[in-house]
Amino acid sequence: MAVRRLLIKNAQIITMNKQDDIFHGDVLIEGERIKEIGTNLQPDTVDAEIDARHQILLPGFIHTHIHLCQTLFRGQGDDWELMDWLKKRIWPLEAAHDEESIYYSAMLGIGELIKGGTTSIVDMETVHHTDFAFQAIQKSGIRALAGKVMMDHGEEVPKLLRETTSASLQESMHLYEKWHGKDGRIQYAFSPRFVVSCSEELLKEVALLSEKYQVCVHTHASENKDEIEIVEQERGMRNVVYLDHLGLANERLILAHCVWLDEEEKKIIRDRKVKVSHCPGSNLKLASGIAEVPHMLKSDMYVSLGADGAPCNNNLDMFQEMKLAALIQKPIHGPTSMKAKQVLQMATIGGAKALGLEHEIGSIEVGKKADLILVDLHKLHAFPSYDIDPISRIVYSAYSSDVETVIINGEIVMENRRLKTMDEDI
Ligand code: GUN
Ligand code: FE
Repeated sequence: MAVRRLLIKNAQIITMNKQDDIFHGDVLIEGERIKEIGTNLQPDTVDAEIDARHQILLPGFIHTHIHLCQTLFRGQGDDWELMDWLKKRIWPLEAAHDEESIYYSAMLGIGELIKGGTTSIVDMETVHHTDFAFQAIQKSGIRALAGKVMMDHGEEVPKLLRETTSASLQESMHLYEKWHGKDGRIQYAFSPRFVVSCSEELLKEVALLSEKYQVCVHTHASENKDEIEIVEQERGMRNVVYLDHLGLANERLILAHCVWLDEEEKKIIRDRKVKVSHCPGSNLKLASGIAEVPHMLKSDMYVSLGADGAPCNNNLDMFQEMKLAALIQKPIHGPTSMKAKQVLQMATIGGAKALGLEHEIGSIEVGKKADLILVDLHKLHAFPSYDIDPISRIVYSAYSSDVETVIINGEIVMENRRLKTMDEDI
C-alpha cells in the first residue's frame, strides 16, 4: 500500500528550528514524517489537502509533567499546600481508582490535551491499573512517555497505595516490557513519585534499571518547602543532591517543579543535563513558589513546561501554562525576563529534549515526525492582523479553542475541532 501523503497549504509556519524560521508556505507529510517544506509545493499526488490560509502551523506542544489519573479529581482541596493536599485528598482518591475509572480519567485528560494542541505528554500514573492508562494512550494516538507511580515508603501513604519494593519494581518492569516502544510513539518511564514516598533501595534499583535499559526516570523534586525538609531530615541531603548520590542525576532524569533549588542542586542539574519540567500553574495553585526559570535558562539548564495534574490548576491547557510562565516572571525580573519565544521553546523543542526526542519532534523540519498543530487566530480582532510577531500572538493571545487541527505521527487526530480517534469514549 502506498504511503499516505497529506499536504498543508498556505499556512503561516513557525518552525521552531535553530534558525527560528517563520514564513508563509506549505508542508508535505508522507506517512509519519515531514517530507518537504516550501512555498507553493506541487507534489504529483496527495491523498488529502488542508487549506490553512489564516492559520498558524507550529509544532505540537510537549507537556512534560502530567498525572492523567488525576483528571477526575478537579476542584478537590483547592486551598491546601502540597503535603496536606496529597494526604487528605489525592492519595485517598488515587486509592479509590479502579480499571475503568483510570481508563476514562486518562481518556478525558488526553481529549482535553489534544483539543488544546498537546501532541506529547510525560505522564505519571498512580500505583495500580496503569495498564488501562496505557490502553487509553494507545487508542487516542497521543505520543507519551508514561509510567506507573512507585511508592514503597512513608507512614502517611495510605495502605492501599503502599507497595513492597519488589512488587513496585516487578510491576514497573512488566509494564515496561509490554508498552515501551509500542506503535512508535509510546515509551515507558520509571516513575518514583518523590523521595518522600520512596525507599533508598527502590531508588537505587530504579537508577540501575534506567541505566541498563536506557529508560527515562520521571519524578517530583524541590516543589515545596515542607517536602524538602522531610527529605533533609530523613536522608540528610537536599533532594537533587540525594538523587545524584544514588546515581539518578543524568540526562534521562525528568524533574517536575524544581522551585527551591540551592546552588549545589543547580550545578548538578546543569552539569548532568537533568531535565526540569516547570509547572507554573500548579506552583501558584499549591502555593509552592515561583521557580527561577529565567536564571535556569540563562545558565543553560534544560527547562520544559507541564501543567501537572488537573487538580493542580484545573486546566491541562498549554496556552494557559505558557501565559503563566511568561507573566509570573515579569513583575519580579522585568518585561524581557521571559520572552514569548523562550516560552514557546520550552513548550516545544525544550519538551522534545526532555523526552530525548529532539531529533524526532519539537520543530518543523524535513525528516522529523509530523506532530503539528494548526491554530486559527483570524477571529481575533487585532490589527494589523496575521503577519506581525506570530509567536507573541500564540503565547499571549491564543486559547485552546483556537486550535483547529492536530496531527500526531502523521495522523490527523483532530480536524475542525472534532477528535477523530476517541469521540465515542468521552
Ligand atoms: N509530589 C508528589 N506527588 C505529587 C502530585 O501528585 N502532584 C504534585 N504537584 N506534586 C507531587
Ligand atoms: Fe505532579
